[in-house]
Amino acid sequence: MSGLSSSTSIAIIGAGTMGAGIAQVAASAGHPVLLFDARQEAPSRAIEQIKASLARLVERKRMAEADAAALVARIRPCTALGELKGTGLAIEAIVEDMAVKKALFVDLEDLLGADAILATNTSSLSITELAGGLKRPGRVAGMHFFNPAPIMPLVEIIRGFATDADVAQIVFETAKAWGKKPVHVKSTPGFLGNRVARPFYGEALRTLEESAADVPTYDALIREAGGFRMGAFELLDLVGIDVNWAVTNSVYDSYFQDPRYKPFRIQGEMVAAGRLGRKTKLGFYDYREGAAPAQPKDAPKASAPTQATIEGDLGIAAPLEGRMARAGIAVRRLPGTGSLVLPECRLMLSDGRTATERMAQEGGAPVVLFDLALDYGVAPRIAITAADQAPHEAVMAATGFFQALGMKVSVIDDIPGLVVLRTVAMLSNFGFDAVHAGIADAAGVDLAMQAAFNYPIGPIAWGERIGLSHVVTTLDHIARAYGEDRYRTSPLMRRRAAAGLNLSDTPFPTPR
Ligand code: CAA
Ligand code: NAD
Repeated sequence: MSGLSSSTSIAIIGAGTMGAGIAQVAASAGHPVLLFDARQEAPSRAIEQIKASLARLVERKRMAEADAAALVARIRPCTALGELKGTGLAIEAIVEDMAVKKALFVDLEDLLGADAILATNTSSLSITELAGGLKRPGRVAGMHFFNPAPIMPLVEIIRGFATDADVAQIVFETAKAWGKKPVHVKSTPGFLGNRVARPFYGEALRTLEESAADVPTYDALIREAGGFRMGAFELLDLVGIDVNWAVTNSVYDSYFQDPRYKPFRIQGEMVAAGRLGRKTKLGFYDYREGAAPAQPKDAPKASAPTQATIEGDLGIAAPLEGRMARAGIAVRRLPGTGSLVLPECRLMLSDGRTATERMAQEGGAPVVLFDLALDYGVAPRIAITAADQAPHEAVMAATGFFQALGMKVSVIDDIPGLVVLRTVAMLSNFGFDAVHAGIADAAGVDLAMQAAFNYPIGPIAWGERIGLSHVVTTLDHIARAYGEDRYRTSPLMRRRAAAGLNLSDTPFPTPR
């Protein structure tokens, strides 16, 4: 089966963030594109945005000027739905609202020929429900692009209960011909990408609600320690805080208010205030002309230690030892459970307990915890937190230690799992859940999350790199700290941790 020929005209309904991007992708593949929006001025405005972004590519010699002009000329702004007649594939990218999308599909079905395919770019809504009540539900499929559509490779192709296999395959092949990485995905709430990615936003919003770190500091940690391309708040602003809010609520409701997916009120407040992110020039950041760029908080300079004791094995944090050697810090080794001991404090990787709890339980020197980093050998920033009982000198000493290794230090409040560890543990947990639910296999989850969100490693592989038993312990501790089911560990992850096996070691379901 092949995709649609490039002479087939493509209708895009909704000329917002995603409609504009998808129009560019389809026109770039040579299709005539008809772009319609309920707001009359939106299609022309979207075309101006596409022109501006192509001009940057031309400037950087990544595209010929004539090709950019030809691409733009293939996109026709439409002011009435009737102008879409004759199109072979309609892709809707309107508001994330089931009733509004359903009403549009009823109109499109009447307008377009019996052979036309009705695709939806919905982030989370049921394709089965969207097609329900239509005359030709077999012609409806999900074609879910990721933002920015011209850049992110993944396109999820979703079949509802009634979607014809041929229709899904044509959409799949068409996305492939457009240079994308399509994957067939089950019609489940949030599909694959948006289901697994929920904690990336949720943990950020919780941290903000708890005033444990401010927005630019949190994002700097996610980028510079976690190795993600964007901080969670930057990404929320890019996606649209309203769009993400609709998706979060839809996934939460579709899973019958499972606390795993529970939204955070602070996001609803942002939506109510009309602070929707980049598109309104105000979100978690200020994009208005003249606004000062928000800066992360760095701990003030503290003095470097001359020596440190490593007790036991630092595990994934072992690359810190190379940095210590380069910084001229003399190392003494003693047996133990994996801590870095300075005269003023004991430094340990978080295991999901607060520093306060750990110091109360274990006694001894004042406890300072440090966060997960993607690569401790090169990470330019790290989060630390100290026990409430620890004196200020403990924080100063820990700060001086990491600064001596060339890292910026962000001191955050004593929240369980800090920032990066908590985020990655939860992403990995959700990845295991998706495998357990049969949505994709481990390789599929990891590839999808990299192709959709540019994650530096897939969440399952990342959990395995940390060590599944450490991830399970971390999640158990966070769950106990909050007393919330949100952090319950995926049974599959717990099982593999108990067996000492990664998902990549043996297949799941386990052959018997
Ligand atoms: N058309 C085509 N190519 C373009 C382009 C355009 N309009 N604009 C930029 N590019 C190209 C650039 O030429 C560049 O290519 P090279 O690497 O070959 O030079 C590449 O795209 C990256 O562009 P930039 O340098 O301008 O961008 P960047 O390096 O600052 O990265 C980013 C920007 C790709 C957005 C990156 O920050 C990122 O990956 N962020 C994460 C995005 C993400 O997570 N998206 C998913 C959101 S959730 C979602 O979409 C699902 C949902 O349902 C809500
Ligand atoms: P947006 O708010 O930027 O744009 C939506 C556009 O749809 C607006 O221009 C609006 O005027 C128009 N519209 C609303 N109702 C309409 C109707 N009945 N008929 C015609 N036009 C109508 O939204 P967006 O971010 O582009 O999201 C669009 C869809 O794509 C949503 O379903 C969203 O969940 C999904 N999506 C969004 C992203 C993202 O990162 N923003 C990523 C993937 C998928």
